[in-house]
Amino acid sequence: MLQFPENFTTALTYIGAATTCYLGFQLAGRAYWFIRSSSLPRYNPPGKDSWALVTGATDGIGFGFAQALSRRGFNVFLHGRNREKLLRRQQELQAQFPSIKTKIIVYDVIDITEEVDNIVQEIGDAPLTVLINNVGGSLSDFQKLPDKSYTNVRDTISLNITFMTQVTRLLIPILEKNGPGLIMNISSVASYGMPWVSVYSGCKGYVDTFTKAVASEMKVDGRPIEVLGICVGNVQSQTNAIDVSWTNPSSLSMAESALNRVGSKGPMVWGYLPHALQGLGFVLIPRDILIMLIVKTMGDLEQDWAKRR
Ligand SMILES: NC(=O)c1ccc[n+]([C@@H]2O[C@H](COP(=O)([O-])OP(=O)(O)OC[C@H]3O[C@@H](n4cnc5c(N)ncnc54)[C@H](OP(=O)(O)O)[C@@H]3O)[C@@H](O)[C@H]2O)c1
Repeated sequence: MLQFPENFTTALTYIGAATTCYLGFQLAGRAYWFIRSSSLPRYNPPGKDSWALVTGATDGIGFGFAQALSRRGFNVFLHGRNREKLLRRQQELQAQFPSIKTKIIVYDVIDITEEVDNIVQEIGDAPLTVLINNVGGSLSDFQKLPDKSYTNVRDTISLNITFMTQVTRLLIPILEKNGPGLIMNISSVASYGMPWVSVYSGCKGYVDTFTKAVASEMKVDGRPIEVLGICVGNVQSQTNAIDVSWTNPSSLSMAESALNRVGSKGPMVWGYLPHALQGLGFVLIPRDILIMLIVKTMGDLEQDWAKRR
């Protein structure tokens, strides 16, 4: 029988124990933030009549946030690009939650100019305490970078980065005045750096780093604003028409779960438990192998979308 030297087996035992501890620590850390209760109520204490602004609120996860925030007693500014759709969604919300107030803000984020500063006037004196930077998306199916047009690249950056950055800049003083305040930025698993969605992927990488930078800035400047980035996996939405399952939540479930993460030790956290478990792969699997698995999943997704189309 093969005999290993004693110090080799001892070393293996230590490596095994260290790996088990590391995995246990990773799992426990992830699970903890999903069982503690949300700190969201501190942004809408009794008698304050607080407002939240949700960007990209006419569909998908954004409309999910509008519903979830209304259910938790917030008045909601719904932002979108299509006035009729905004009015329709506003009516739906008012019918579902008659005691809350809603207002709409029409602004196409792809055509952003300096006029975006007028959003401050649209907020007016409303005690805004929550900003959900949700608007975003990929603007094209999986496509190699050289095949993308100038306009597609420019618009993807405006949709995912430019508007979010400008709105955050404009609203920090308002959130501080009404403090404590919350800024929640919606990121994506794509920030890992994925092929064929390179521009979107890079934009979400910006969202992650911007979230961390602004969170630090709020702390060192002593502003009472929590900044939390939510990492999101596959979610059924307007642009991602997949079937709902345990790993693919509906937009409303995703929004509810993200709001339950408020108060977590961020600045970046997974919003939904099954996504957090899937995210362990990013920690444990070597990048080259993981990219091969991701490419396979993206191929399956593309075929699925093609069938639906
Ligand atoms: N769904 C997923 O699997 C997934 C995964 C990871 C991250 N995310 C992130 O989650 C966020 C929401 O995604 P989603 O899937 O819920 O998207 P969605 O269903 O396509 O909804 C996007 C929302 O943004 C609005 N919007 C789009 N372009 C706009 C523009 N130019 N100006 C103003 N509003 C605009 C849409 O308005 P209209 O109703 O007029 O179209 C809609 O309200 C994004 O940041 C996305 O990157 C999603």
